Amino acid sequence: MGFITPNDYDDLRSLYTGQLQYLLSTENQIVKGLESMIDHAQDTQLKQAFQSHKQETEVQVQRLDKLISELTGDSDDKKDPIATALISSGVNIVRESSEGPVRDAGLLATAQKIEHYEIASYGAAIAWATTLGLTDHAALLEKTLEEEKHADHLLTTIAQRENVEAAAVSAQ
Ligand SMILES: [Fe+2]
Repeated sequence: MGFITPNDYDDLRSLYTGQLQYLLSTENQIVKGLESMIDHAQDTQLKQAFQSHKQETEVQVQRLDKLISELTGDSDDKKDPIATALISSGVNIVRESSEGPVRDAGLLATAQKIEHYEIASYGAAIAWATTLGLTDHAALLEKTLEEEKHADHLLTTIAQRENVEAAAVSAQ
């Protein structure tokens, strides 16, 4: 039953394909979002974490391109409004703060929200690929999921230090 939009998903395979297309949009938006976050972060370790995750994300885009092409014959994405909203919340933090530890703490929180969204999305995609018998898809997506979890853990470690530095900044 289609409620609001035409019903593209009439089986699990089409739902899975749609999930990969949303993820491709998400990852492409994250590459651009990370470029901005690298520019606006002050902390050297944070900048490096964003830079290395941007490089990982570019590989994740290639993986999704490959999987979607196998399913549909092209690598079209579907614009993901949730990724857009999460990334624009980071833009707002930049607008509403000056460069320094407080802004960095806000950018860390935004980046971790995005990571958790990706971890949930890849988790569903892997479960569907496995159920559909697409074990090669599940294995490739698992690599990306591990990178997302690793990035999230690294951001947690940086936030533990950065939050203390942010707390030491006194309001003007
Ligand atoms: Fe990612």
